[in-house]
Amino acid sequence: MSSELATTPGGRFEPRWARRAAAAGNVPFGGERAALSLAYGFPDPALFPYAELAVAAGRVLHDPSKGAAALQYGKLQGVPSLLSMLASKLSHDEGLTIQPDSLLITGGSSGAIGLAARSLVDEGDTVLVEAPSFTGAMNMFRRTGAELRSLPMGPDGIDVAGAEAALDALHIRGIRPRVLYTMPTFHNPTGLTLSEAQRGALLGMARRYNLIVIEDDAYRDLYYDGQQGALPQSLYALDREGRVIRTGTFSKILAPGLRLGWALAQPEIINKMLLLKEEGASTPFAQQVVVEYGRDGVLMSHIAMLVDAYRQKRDTMLDALERFFPAEASWTRPAGGFYVWVTLPASVDPAALASHAREEGVDYVRGESCYCEQPSQPGTRLRLCFSMLRLDDIEEAVKRLGHAIYSFM
Ligand SMILES: Cc1ncc(COP(=O)(O)O)c(C=O)c1O
Repeated sequence: MSSELATTPGGRFEPRWARRAAAAGNVPFGGERAALSLAYGFPDPALFPYAELAVAAGRVLHDPSKGAAALQYGKLQGVPSLLSMLASKLSHDEGLTIQPDSLLITGGSSGAIGLAARSLVDEGDTVLVEAPSFTGAMNMFRRTGAELRSLPMGPDGIDVAGAEAALDALHIRGIRPRVLYTMPTFHNPTGLTLSEAQRGALLGMARRYNLIVIEDDAYRDLYYDGQQGALPQSLYALDREGRVIRTGTFSKILAPGLRLGWALAQPEIINKMLLLKEEGASTPFAQQVVVEYGRDGVLMSHIAMLVDAYRQKRDTMLDALERFFPAEASWTRPAGGFYVWVTLPASVDPAALASHAREEGVDYVRGESCYCEQPSQPGTRLRLCFSMLRLDDIEEAVKRLGHAIYSFM
């Protein structure tokens, strides 16, 4: 018997963790949220289509031709009718022609990003992310054993010239990244959107440095300042070489509890992701319900309603920032998505501000957690999410946060 006892002093068994689990640290189990939380990128639960989803679920279960498929193990790639509904939506919104083998339904877009990471990244590889980036995705790449390096962002998203300089510097040190994870549209956490010209430049850079690009497009449908057609095309649409894997989700336009997202990429990549998709099909029941719900253009009108509601929330937050934040603060003005990114003078201590804000009953995401390396520009940054709170609560939260910030000025 091993003399190494796998028990804590209290006698409870403690597993010998796999390296990736040990490196993950401890999960913050259900940390208490502040009364007015601007932290989580959750959709507003008041906007979920409860009754319509209940009707759709009923129809699926009462129709034997649909119910049996919904409750059976499903096809790994996804329920065919959902795949064709998605392909029609992409064709309608963006004029894309989607080959049937280019799409994969996943457990949220987190599932798609995780599969892309597992398909493309080995331990010790370098993955490029924006500075700042989405913590959830960075953690997924870290868990593959990758090293993260960041590329600079400018006022409109990734700064392609700066990114090339950073890549050159890495190459000189013998570091050759193979994967770039980017959010060119309504970026999390900054809310910024990259112009179409810069998207072309980014793809040129990807070609020169032989990068595969994971384009996280979680928020594209939530555009508040124009018609969908006015948005820059996705990197996936602009790419002529098959180097882009685009991920999307039903979480922000329907409900995250459905846990449905998707990946769009050249068939060889989708095939590899399928081979690594160990959990089986992603909830065929939820997929069938979405198909049933989305008949007759209902999803489109639901999205139009969400766009109006979230635009009001965005405007309320921007207006409150003008009124309640000091002149030394600056922030982004997102044309879509869920987030405003605030920069405060570096003299505002991030930990002290967070604790003061909590005393005021407000929380938010501290900017430091969104960087994988020390940011090059000084400043204390906050990600404020406007999606979840009611309009009067957004105003009150920003007011209280402004109050907390003024105490440092
Ligand atoms: C940019 C981005 N990508 C992906 C996700 C993951 O969402 P889901 O797994 O629910 O699709 C989120 C969630 O907040 C996000 O903000």
